[in-house]
Amino acid sequence: MPGAIYAEGLVKTFGDVRALDGVDLDVPEGTVLGLLGPNGAGKTTTVRCLTTLLRPDSGKAVVAGLDVVKQPNEVRRSIGLSGQFAAVDEYLTGRENLEMVGRLYQMRPRAAKERAAELLEQFNLTEAADRPAKTYSGGMRRRLDLAAALVVSPPVMFMDEPTTGLDPRNRQQLWDVIKELVSGGTTLLLTTQYLEEADQLAHEIAVVDHGRVIARGTSDQLKARTGGERVEVVVHDRAFISVAGEVLRGFGTSDATVEEHTRKLTVPVTGGAKLLAEIIRELDSRGVEIDDIGLRRPTLDDVFLSLTGRVAEATDEENGAESAAAEDRRREKETVK
Ligand SMILES: Nc1ncnc2c1ncn2[C@@H]1O[C@H](COP(=O)(O)OP(=O)(O)O)[C@@H](O)[C@H]1O
Ligand SMILES: [Mg+2]
Repeated sequence: MPGAIYAEGLVKTFGDVRALDGVDLDVPEGTVLGLLGPNGAGKTTTVRCLTTLLRPDSGKAVVAGLDVVKQPNEVRRSIGLSGQFAAVDEYLTGRENLEMVGRLYQMRPRAAKERAAELLEQFNLTEAADRPAKTYSGGMRRRLDLAAALVVSPPVMFMDEPTTGLDPRNRQQLWDVIKELVSGGTTLLLTTQYLEEADQLAHEIAVVDHGRVIARGTSDQLKARTGGERVEVVVHDRAFISVAGEVLRGFGTSDATVEEHTRKLTVPVTGGAKLLAEIIRELDSRGVEIDDIGLRRPTLDDVFLSLTGRVAEATDEENGAESAAAEDRRREKETVK
């Protein structure tokens, strides 16, 4: 049986750009799929197709058991979407925005009010609740946008880069909210450029690049695929490189690599911390002086790099995060006054 979110061969072109080139997905009910990929990989386009905002050129997509192309209205009633481009009315206050969403979903006025107040509290927006959204910082808007997506608890949620631009504290808070949401049985598709976010939240990860899913699995499976542990040693002097190399070769599962200029030797190993202790003893008994030694497990960053040939984009986003965080602090102070 297909999962709560299912896509097969989704294709979407914009002129010459093949934004989606046959995306396949299958997200079991009650789980979180992290859609990971560099800028321009097709993450937002995938979300827009699955949430009926874009019509795919070809392929099939079923969300909450409903065909995205044939039953768009029914799909919309079964999903929540928090977008990269927030659907917040600038001129309404935070509270009014949330109450309006409740009314759109046919909640009674009193229920809509209560739900709005609950969400404002949960997203740390109570103080700012009665100011127009246009006075909110980027981070506050993101929180409001996410709160709006949660007014009714839909069985299937989509979040497109929900924490981009948030400072670490707000990001952690949001992760907690998301975890709670998912523990209640919601199926979630989340796109992110923060690998740690996928590591923390996603049951399964799909790496997309050039409009296709190029790898999928749990975070651990992807890491294992990329290669196991390595021991890295920095020797105190170049003169030690050759002996250190001999020692490491004796412990490694394949040959050691040497970076002359940094005096760093790396060897793939299995056996972890115990082996590390043995290596240190052996180096010591052979008279090799070391500046640094460590066991390194592959991170999702390594996975991403080895799959896409690129490091996860962060520069622009990090800048954005910094300014948004500073702005957040400033505006939150204003509120307290
Ligand atoms: N409305 C659009 N018109 C033209 N090109 C688009 C449009 N939306 C997305 N694209 C292109 O499709 C590709 C995938 O974009 P997108 O899905 O936004 O990637 P991501 O969200 O992974 O950064 C990019 O090359 C982007 O420039
Ligand atoms: Mg995007």
